Amino acid sequence: MDTVRIFDTTLRDGEQSPGFSMNTGEKLRLARQLESLGVDVIEAGFPIASKGDFEAVRAVAGAIRNSTVAGLARARRPDIEAALGALEAAVRPRVHVFLATSDLHLQHKLRISREEALEAIGTMVEFARSRCAEVEFSAEDASRSDPAFLAQAFSTAADAGATILNAPDTVGFATPEEYGDLFRALRAQLGDRPGLVWSAHCHNDLGLAVANSLAAVAAGARQVECTINGIGERAGNAALEEIAVALAVRPDRYAATTRLRLNELYAVSRLLSEITRVPVPPNKAVVGANAFAHEAGIHQDGILKNPLTYQVISPEAVGVPKHRLVLGKHSGRNALRSRLGDLGVVLAEDEVGRCYRLVMELADTKKDVNDADLLRLARDAQSGRDIPEDSVATEAVHGSVTLPRGNPA
Ligand code: KIV
Ligand code: ZN
Repeated sequence: MDTVRIFDTTLRDGEQSPGFSMNTGEKLRLARQLESLGVDVIEAGFPIASKGDFEAVRAVAGAIRNSTVAGLARARRPDIEAALGALEAAVRPRVHVFLATSDLHLQHKLRISREEALEAIGTMVEFARSRCAEVEFSAEDASRSDPAFLAQAFSTAADAGATILNAPDTVGFATPEEYGDLFRALRAQLGDRPGLVWSAHCHNDLGLAVANSLAAVAAGARQVECTINGIGERAGNAALEEIAVALAVRPDRYAATTRLRLNELYAVSRLLSEITRVPVPPNKAVVGANAFAHEAGIHQDGILKNPLTYQVISPEAVGVPKHRLVLGKHSGRNALRSRLGDLGVVLAEDEVGRCYRLVMELADTKKDVNDADLLRLARDAQSGRDIPEDSVATEAVHGSVTLPRGNPA
């Protein structure tokens, strides 16, 4: 079984779409949750784009220890220098250099020739590689580029030191067959190069982003670029949770797995939705409220007899809680532990104590302490924040209420 690297670009491609902007603190919270989920790479932003983007990448680079942190840069020296500066504190930094390769983009957007494009790719990837151990090159609009020129661009980038080559379907134009064929052709043309990883990056304009990403995996791509809840430019990027679960459910087709803790998918999806205040559509695959709900009598009957009749994955496998304990000022430590567990957060005993006191303090002013509140207070407790024991009421153990979540299984 091969491993497919998950490159999460929620904080860059996702965040740059209308309605999804986040401040540095919010990006940090999400980045920590992504690290806990186990993503291989967190693309934290586009440092040259603004001071805020630079600061956010810098903050994420300083806080994340277990995932690679990537910063985006055009094939220009100032962009690469900004990315290098923002990534200084990263344990595993990656500079992600991109340049468009389709004639449409070269002629109408960049107004440069193919030769000038190759020159920029070679010199800028080499410059980035001289300062950073890991460089990715993306050929923007790869799926609409002349295949021979595209192969030349990738070969130039690989010769200059890029070890991850990404062929984006930037405008969501490709079909799964075409996109898979593109990877097969590129791999054949560039041949076996030690350490080289092919990457897919799909947009959802025709609703094919996940299907295209999976087609790329079937054709040998070993990195997939995607976002939580599929957020991103226009119709969005490929949804991380859908790709991860498809790979987990269909090893017979893809023979590839990820390093993700799938039971944290629900928590990170909800955290993003709470931060951005954009609800997850109820029918969203894997993490939508209806994804595991069964209304029709025949389906309910089947599910009760054997969940496999109408479910290809269990809600628990992706962290969807079967029931939800409402946390209020009458709740106890066990209810708190259970809700934190649903969100994929495990605290040490002293942290539970601190978190409990912080929750009780908030519950005095708020009826239902929601998931976003809980995640924030759990982080606070982990970093040592506390309030005096005698300023909150002693534990009331009997006040928790159990609510069904519409899942009869
Ligand atoms: O869609 C795209 O082509 C991109 C690149 C910058 C990787 O987001
Ligand atoms: Zn993109």
